[in-house]
Amino acid sequence: MTEPILSMRRLGKTHGVGAQRVDALVSVDLDLLPGELVAITGRSGSGKTTLLNMAGALDEPTTGEVIVDGQNLATLSKQELARVRRVSVGYVFQQFNLLPSLTAAENISLPLELDGMKPALARELAEKSLDEVELGGMADRYPDQLSGGEQQRVAIARGLVGPRSVLLADEPTGALDEATSESILKLIRSRCDAGAAALLVTHEPAYAAWADRVVRLRDGRVEGISVRSKTPSSTADLS
Ligand SMILES: Nc1ncnc2c1ncn2[C@@H]1O[C@H](COP(=O)(O)OP(=O)(O)O)[C@@H](O)[C@H]1O
Ligand SMILES: [Mg+2]
Repeated sequence: MTEPILSMRRLGKTHGVGAQRVDALVSVDLDLLPGELVAITGRSGSGKTTLLNMAGALDEPTTGEVIVDGQNLATLSKQELARVRRVSVGYVFQQFNLLPSLTAAENISLPLELDGMKPALARELAEKSLDEVELGGMADRYPDQLSGGEQQRVAIARGLVGPRSVLLADEPTGALDEATSESILKLIRSRCDAGAAALLVTHEPAYAAWADRVVRLRDGRVEGISVRSKTPSSTADLS
C-alpha cells in the first residue's frame, strides 16, 4: 500500500488565550498520497491558512499530529524542522513574502544556497523555475519593479523550485488573470502527476476542478469532501 506523503491526524489549533481564544482548527484528519492534489475551500476565517501552516511546519498544532514524508513533526529538532520547511515542503504564501532587497532569481536561489546548494546550480534552478511561470526575462528585477501578478508568480516559482514532495499554495492565483492562473494550475497538477502531493487553497470552483478531492472547511472543521474522478461530469459528492 502506498504511504501518504502528508498525514494530518486529529489536528487542532487554538490561537490566542482567554477571551481572545479562537479554535481555528478542530480535529482535522487528512491524508495525501503521492500524486494527489487536494483543494481546500471555505470562507474567510474557516482555518485554511492555519491548516497550511501546520502542514508546512510553520506553526505548531495544539492537538494532534502532522507527518511529512514519514516524519512526525512533533519529534523533530529545530534544525530538522527547518530542513523539512526548506527541502520537503514548497510553500506559496498568500502574501507573497518576497524579500525586497533581492532580485526575483535571488528570492528563489537564496533559500537553496542556505541549504548548501552551490550558487551556480541554485541560480540555474531559479531561472528554470522562473521560465516555468513565464517570467524568464525578469530574473534580475527587484520585487518593486514587478507587477502584483508578476510578484505572485515569483512567489510561486520559489515555492515550486526543486524536488519538493509536498506543495502548499494559499490562494496562489489571487492576483493573476484567468489564462495565467490556468497555466499555474497546470504546473501544480503536473508536479503532482510526477509524484508530489499538493494542498491548494482556492475560492474558484473552476480551479478546484483540477483537484482529486475538494475539502470544505467551516469554522475549523471539515464540513465535507468531494471526490473527483478524472471526468468532471462524474463527480461524486460524499459529504
Ligand atoms: N495568529 C493568530 N492569532 C489569533 N487568531 C488567529 C491567528 N491566525 C488566525 N487566527 C484566527 O483563526 C481563524 C482561522 O484563520 P485562518 O486560518 O487565517 O483562516 P482562513 O485562511 O480560512 O481565512 C480566524 O478566526 C482567525 O481570526
Ligand atoms: Mg487565509
